[in-house]
Amino acid sequence: MEKKTIRDVDVKGKKVLVRCDFNVPIKEGKIADDTRIKAALPTIKYLIENGAKVVLCSHLGRPKGEVNEKYSLKPVAEKLSEELGLDVKLAEDVTGSSAHEMADNLKEGEAGLLENVRFDPREEKNDDTLSLELAELIGEDGIYVNDAFGTAHRAHSSTEGVTHHVETSVAGLLMEKEIAQLGAVLESPEQPFVAILGGAKVSDKIGVIENLLEKVERIEIGGAMATTFLKAKGYDIGGSIYEPDKVEVAKELMKKAKDKGVEIILPVDAKVAKLPAGAELDSEKIEAVEHKQVKLYTEQEIEEGKGESLEGWQMLDVGEKTLEHFASGLEGAKTVVWNGPLGYTEAPSFAHGTESIARYISAGNAKCVIGGGDSVAAIQKIKTKAKENGENTKQFSNIYLSTGGGASLEFLEGKELPGIAALNNAEKTVKKTSSQEAKNIGQEK
Ligand code: 3PG
Repeated sequence: MEKKTIRDVDVKGKKVLVRCDFNVPIKEGKIADDTRIKAALPTIKYLIENGAKVVLCSHLGRPKGEVNEKYSLKPVAEKLSEELGLDVKLAEDVTGSSAHEMADNLKEGEAGLLENVRFDPREEKNDDTLSLELAELIGEDGIYVNDAFGTAHRAHSSTEGVTHHVETSVAGLLMEKEIAQLGAVLESPEQPFVAILGGAKVSDKIGVIENLLEKVERIEIGGAMATTFLKAKGYDIGGSIYEPDKVEVAKELMKKAKDKGVEIILPVDAKVAKLPAGAELDSEKIEAVEHKQVKLYTEQEIEEGKGESLEGWQMLDVGEKTLEHFASGLEGAKTVVWNGPLGYTEAPSFAHGTESIARYISAGNAKCVIGGGDSVAAIQKIKTKAKENGENTKQFSNIYLSTGGGASLEFLEGKELPGIAALNNAEKTVKKTSSQEAKNIGQEK
């Protein structure tokens, strides 16, 4: 169902609480990737230009309900100030006196940021008292905007609970775009529709595969999750990481795919690194050891002397023949959904498969949606490199990069995300209890 957005409501002069996903990687106190901040700017700018008093709210990392300077949103407030060209003040708390002072002093067209909402232990419990306190920050005629698609799969106070205490809860422009992009590939994909799945674990993708089996013509599987499927087919995977307890699941998924006429394309060759089984993956160590390209053999073929065992080696990227198979499986595709890198892209020597397929897609006509933190980071790296090399910047324009990791996976599983479900399409009657009254009631019990 289409959700109301900030364009459907009058925000002038009102306090607007905007839940963003500013959960960005911070290295040595600096933002290492500002994609999520940049993605939130259209909503914030719209609200500023339309005279709202913008109260921004987000989590950063997993501080487990405790105040921890390491997870402060200070670098985010600084980045927002720089991007917006105005002073975005950071409150010292989430709903305390500093937050109220910041929100109450905002003039039309100004924005301030609450401190990390996960510093409050009630946030992840979706505790109603915190939801109420968040709603009280914006007053009776305040508006709640959820623009945090990346956190929409969490039913927390700032993503779900708060909507029960605010009359108008609408989607921000990023949320609207994400729902439209991901929704289109699920609801009305132009055929042929191909899925590419990679990343570390089969267990993360079972629901996605099950849901996509109803919709796609084929699924191409790379990354470490391919090893579990290869194991299920009797292949020797040497010391590669795989999930022993998911081998049966992989067999079942392949059977279901066969029954539904969905082709599953698995690697036939791989780029491997000389690493013993269980060796910790670290890009510097990986780059330092020997690498080679190998054809994959079943354990039986090896026993029969038809191929060499991969003992002492780990598969870290798909090989050239596999890339040819993947490319021909994508030929003529009109819709592609991709989640998870095809190799260990943190090590440049094993990023080739992912880059090669991204470039193949960008040269074609398919509409492609990519989700998942690692795959998106890998594609961003490729785009930045292409830009630095002076390549055509219009490249990759058919590839939509979602800001959702877990959220995009759950969306692709066909689940309704609580942060989206909570957004109302009609104004509703809200609980009018104040947080103080709620606390009193709690104490009386
Ligand atoms: C994410 O990065 O996927 C979101 O910000 C959600 O973070 P979480 O997994 O810590 O809830």
